[in-house]
Amino acid sequence: MSAAAEPSNAALAESLLAFWADAGVDAMLLDEAVDRIEAGKVLPPVRPAAPVVVAAAPVGRVGTPQPDVSAAVAQAQAAAAAAQDLDALVAAIAAFEGCSLRYEGAATKAVVFRGDPKAPLVVIGEGPGADEDARGEPFVGRAGKLLDRMLAAAGLDNRVLITNTVFWRPPGNRTPSPAEQAVCAPFLERIIALVQPRMLLLAGGASAKALLKREEGILSLRGRWLEWKSADGAMELPAMPTLHPAFLLRQPGAKKRAWQDLLTLTERLDRPGRPD
Ligand code: URA
Repeated sequence: MSAAAEPSNAALAESLLAFWADAGVDAMLLDEAVDRIEAGKVLPPVRPAAPVVVAAAPVGRVGTPQPDVSAAVAQAQAAAAAAQDLDALVAAIAAFEGCSLRYEGAATKAVVFRGDPKAPLVVIGEGPGADEDARGEPFVGRAGKLLDRMLAAAGLDNRVLITNTVFWRPPGNRTPSPAEQAVCAPFLERIIALVQPRMLLLAGGASAKALLKREEGILSLRGRWLEWKSADGAMELPAMPTLHPAFLLRQPGAKKRAWQDLLTLTERLDRPGRPD
């Protein structure tokens, strides 16, 4: 590479920072420890305890005992069922105290959805990241911008509602645990029930596995039409699992496969006579 073509230090630093931000590292630490108590600084605020706390369990660890989430799920079901429209549902989620993610580092309010409340397609990601937490809207960071570009290229912009399996940012952008997803699931199902889409696009393995109750990885699930069913069996929809846009940012070579998935989905959505 000629000297002229070499990236500047500033460009290299910017790209490194973007890489760390993508990985969920959004705070700087100093080289030397600072004793803030000694220095008379305030302690970090203590977050209020939730009445029902769902512990953060690692995803998919066979044999790991899962916390009993049934009380929190029952609370979520009751709150979700009472919401007669999306505004009421957003308020119910904001008031819900049964998901521990709310107390684990999410900086702002619940991140619920963006897009068309009557969309024929609901896109479901994993969970909010730092940008979403700051803005209060799903998929507004780098991954979200890529998602928007792909949806627009497939003619799907303005025809989608975008949401996630959980509504508070998992600390450090870790994958939400099955317990956290289970507690948020009644709200997600209520979103689907209120929007009445014709199909679902499941972005990434955490979304596909949770919604489809499957154990396979996203690379084997993606690109196939699978059936999503609500917990009570009353709703059924065709669902297309695909690669998560954050993965595509790290592995641009995989974009071709995600694009293929979007084309397959669009073909069915736009098929005349709506033979879903
Ligand atoms: N990744 C997700 O899965 N959801 C978001 O809202 C943002 C990034």
